[in-house]
Amino acid sequence: MTFSTFWRLAATAALATIAFTAHAKYNGEDRGKPVMPAQSNAQWAAECGSCHLAFPPGLLPAASWKKVMTGLDKHFDTDASLSPADNQAITDYLVKHASNRWTANTAPIKITDGEWFKTKHRASEIDPAVWKRASVKSPSNCIACHRAADKGEFDDDTVRIPK
Ligand code: HEC
Ligand code: HEC
Repeated sequence: MTFSTFWRLAATAALATIAFTAHAKYNGEDRGKPVMPAQSNAQWAAECGSCHLAFPPGLLPAASWKKVMTGLDKHFDTDASLSPADNQAITDYLVKHASNRWTANTAPIKITDGEWFKTKHRASEIDPAVWKRASVKSPSNCIACHRAADKGEFDDDTVRIPK
């Protein structure tokens, strides 16, 4: 091996390490970018937005959405089942726009169980007592704090923790 080949190999290895580290952000459980696709879907907005915020597809990986959509008859203690045609159309939409940065082999059915969520809302950022406020109720209630969550906006410009 010549001297320059050695350094080329060393540089390639270093770059591969950087690329791997970047992908391993939040242990690979990262939300997609964007979290909300430009094109909406009327069935998804109506059906998945009737009990809670219609959670943007990019918040979970495709495997999670498949699990959610095959378990709608027992959806968090409620029955949210749909006709097979509606289920298929909504599943297609969610899977197509699922997180494109989730590299871990995991598929939680709760957004709030994902590593990116836990990191962004860790106790040093948000006092755990906040989650129990009547105005917040639950970590799933994104829109209590993220006032533009229905538009897929979660950045600090639009966040305000209610009293
Ligand atoms: C009949 C009411 C109802 C409908 C309709 C409904 N859900 Fe839910 N969903 C719930 C309840 C209740 C929870 C639990 C909320 C909590 O823990 O605070 C939930 C939670 C969730 C969560 C987990 C949120 C978290 O805590 O991270 C996801 C994801 C979800 N729903 C997706 C969907 C999708 C996709 C649809 C449309 C196919 C849908 N839901 C339709 C009632 C509903
Ligand atoms: C009790 C209030 C509260 C609730 C409820 C809440 N969040 Fe947050 N969230 C925050 C705060 C505060 C931040 C930190 C904002 C910042 O400075 O980046 C944050 C950060 C985020 C970020 C990172 C934004 C960025 O630009 O880096 C995302 C994405 C996010 N939240 C999504 C969600 C989702 C999805 C839900 C519901 C499943 C949710 N949040 C529920 C308060 C909340």
